[in-house]
Amino acid sequence: MQKIAEYVAARQAESLEELKEILRIPSVSTDASKKDDIARCASLVRAHLEKAGLQAEILPTGGHPAVYGERLAAPGKPTVLVYGHYDVQPPEPLELWRHGPFEPTVEGEYLVARGATDDKGQALSLVKGIEASFKTRGELPVNVKVLIEGEEEIGSPNLVPFVRKSRERLACDVVVIADSSQFAKDVPAITYGLKGLVYYELTVRGPKKDLHSGSYGGSVANPANVLSRMLAAFQGPFGKVAIPGFYDGVRPLEPREREEFARLSFDEEEYRREVGASKLFGEEGYTTLERKWARPTFDINGLVSGFTGVGAKTVLPSVARAKFSMRLVPDQDPDRITELVRDFLRDITPDTVETELETHHGAKAVLLRRDGKEVQAAARAYEIGFGKKPVFIREGGSIPVVNTFQAELGAESILLGLGLPDDDAHAPNEKFRIQDYYRGMVTMAAFLEEMAT
Ligand code: BES
Ligand code: MN
Ligand code: MN
Repeated sequence: MQKIAEYVAARQAESLEELKEILRIPSVSTDASKKDDIARCASLVRAHLEKAGLQAEILPTGGHPAVYGERLAAPGKPTVLVYGHYDVQPPEPLELWRHGPFEPTVEGEYLVARGATDDKGQALSLVKGIEASFKTRGELPVNVKVLIEGEEEIGSPNLVPFVRKSRERLACDVVVIADSSQFAKDVPAITYGLKGLVYYELTVRGPKKDLHSGSYGGSVANPANVLSRMLAAFQGPFGKVAIPGFYDGVRPLEPREREEFARLSFDEEEYRREVGASKLFGEEGYTTLERKWARPTFDINGLVSGFTGVGAKTVLPSVARAKFSMRLVPDQDPDRITELVRDFLRDITPDTVETELETHHGAKAVLLRRDGKEVQAAARAYEIGFGKKPVFIREGGSIPVVNTFQAELGAESILLGLGLPDDDAHAPNEKFRIQDYYRGMVTMAAFLEEMAT
């Protein structure tokens, strides 16, 4: 391990340049005009897998390609599958960035760019850890497979079926993922729970064209008014979801988990100040961490209708549209929730408008094992890489393929968070702490060593 840590330390500047190079590619998966950038990014990822000693290839899918590499040179030893994603979220709103989102810039102890933490920085950290192990020892201590995809941020629509079809190729003892975060600065965390997701777009249509709100208002239903009332019906005053049957599948928090969450050093007032809200909010009877990590939620993600330019315009809009989503917890089933949403909409839609519901991506929530030798190996590896024992946490985010790994490969994932909770993933000025990029490499190499013993 000493030698591996030295290998990483000696190449810090070079590794940082490699991360910057990949961050300069605007691999925004939701943007169809970025196909060439996506392809370029996939090639660069393949080159990194090859540098780490893996035999690598680009896997075409129905959508953006995935990159796969393997080195199976440790007969009788376990097989570790590393998963990550090279696609990123759109960078907008651009005016809030301190510099171009695809011009990675060092600011103090951070590297700032879209994808810095989610997930290029974290994924490359693991790959560079494999490289450090391979180059230092001349061979990897266990069998290693790596799968880095280009569609995670749009719900992994093609990877999920690919995994289903590739059970043998992807067979492994454990999956390692760095696509979450530490609990706090220098408090590394293994995340054992992720939320699921259902995402919808609801369109409400009224009159066939925009109308003068004075001449027509009060005599024709306003779709924006109707949509507002409908959306309001989804949620009680403290955020409890009002759809009948919604909570049927919800697994209650275990008393042991509640105790563990309560023991984590979490300052609600500091959290409130960090997000800049005047007061925290949430379902009655639950703490902030419980609400964030283990209770389902409803959020309107976007709302468009009528006049949104400067000044005032008296208009009765013809159409109103909302994007909204719900985060799910075990054992809620996304398909069942969609049935309930459709039934509910039928009940609350007045006959003065037409509505249309479009479903976007979905994901199942997961709870992962926290015992077993792989998790113990990861905890020891973290101690080597970060000098601290990890805490066990859950998270409110979703990674769709984790459930598929469990269901199709029978493999548990270990979510090693290298980022920080305030890295601003998906937001302007996303960042990654440079030191944690290097520590992640050592942690990954140490994990391979621990798995071999
Ligand atoms: N890396 C995140 C998921 C995440 C966030 C895990 C925070 C743990 C903590 C991932 O890239 C992501 O953003 N997922 C989407 C999923 C969706 C687009 C299907 C999410 O959670 O919104
Ligand atoms: Mn991610
Ligand atoms: Mn993300």
